[in-house]
Amino acid sequence: MIPFIDLKTQYQQYKAEIDAAVIDVMGRAEFILGKEVSELEKNLSAYTGAKHTIACANGTDALMLALMAIDIQPGDEVITPSFTFIATAEAAAILGAKVVLVDIEERGYNLDVHHLADCITPKTRAILPVSLYGQVADMEEINAIAAHYGEKFGHKIVVIEDAAQSFGAEYKGQKSGHLSEMGCTSFFPSKPLGCYGDGGAVFTDDDALAAKLRALAIHGQTARYRHEYIGLNSRLDTIQAAILNVKLKYFDAEVKARQQIGARYTELLRGMGCMTPEVLAERTHVYAQYSIRVHNRDAVVESLRAAGVPTAIHYPMPIHAQPCFQGLGYRDGDFPVSARVSKEVLSLPMSPFLTEEDQERVVAALEGLK
Ligand SMILES: Cc1ncc(COP(=O)(O)O)c(C=O)c1O
Repeated sequence: MIPFIDLKTQYQQYKAEIDAAVIDVMGRAEFILGKEVSELEKNLSAYTGAKHTIACANGTDALMLALMAIDIQPGDEVITPSFTFIATAEAAAILGAKVVLVDIEERGYNLDVHHLADCITPKTRAILPVSLYGQVADMEEINAIAAHYGEKFGHKIVVIEDAAQSFGAEYKGQKSGHLSEMGCTSFFPSKPLGCYGDGGAVFTDDDALAAKLRALAIHGQTARYRHEYIGLNSRLDTIQAAILNVKLKYFDAEVKARQQIGARYTELLRGMGCMTPEVLAERTHVYAQYSIRVHNRDAVVESLRAAGVPTAIHYPMPIHAQPCFQGLGYRDGDFPVSARVSKEVLSLPMSPFLTEEDQERVVAALEGLK
């Protein structure tokens, strides 16, 4: 079986450095908030261009922390796309916010800015666009719409990019995660920059938000045992930070490999009756997933499986259709693109270490279906 995401080869590649970094943390027993965490935060700020990076326990917490930092209250409205991983909507819902969903656009699979203004009300406090599959949403337009309506309603509408899948991607020459007031990412192992467990981070240029985020991630603590806010226990552990510091050194090379492999898939799949991902203007794609669209998905999945090619579906059920969000009262007809895309998308094996031979095997297996 071809690996769907080849984390084993990646580890072998950096093993000596990663093992040494982990053993060093173990030897010093600095498991919580060791120096590697602040080093990582500095490295990530340098990488993204954000003034502040606040490392935390996972990408879902990063989203929650960002929403908590702007004091989201029950009844506030948070806008997010109807086609994303559950965490984006979940983070808003768990704080009691009303989740307001917007359909996605057909080409990039991100929030469709043409529908955004219609969803904004005086209760809108935040917009959470997702940079799905590794390509950024139309952030400039989203920021402009948020600023316009914020002014109109007399309060700020904060844009928080969910960059869990797009770390390393660029939009108009700027790095994903640093394209709005706050950006959040995940270091889940299969993400473009993954650790060996759970991890996440929030990025911001705002000093006050950064200070609050930092406190919120440690029980709302502003001085030892002084708790200014109700917070979370959401620290990134030192071992994960040590691993990420090693992996970050090789990240640009991995992004380049991802882009070459993604472009090669697109080239090889031309004319094969499936829809391949499109790299939109002024963006780069990091292919957290290389997702095609097919009409007869079940049959394709089965034939690929028989040929030793694993696949995954990101995501088979849009947010509005999830049992836990039935209370929102949405129907498929409200989000026709999300509904259609969820029935057609199929992710192919993808990692910076996918060999040309394996990639050809994937394509050959698809060719048989023409
Ligand atoms: C778009 C998106 N948002 C948020 C998350 C949550 O990240 P984590 O799993 O680190 O909590 C993920 C990944 O799992 C994701 O893909």
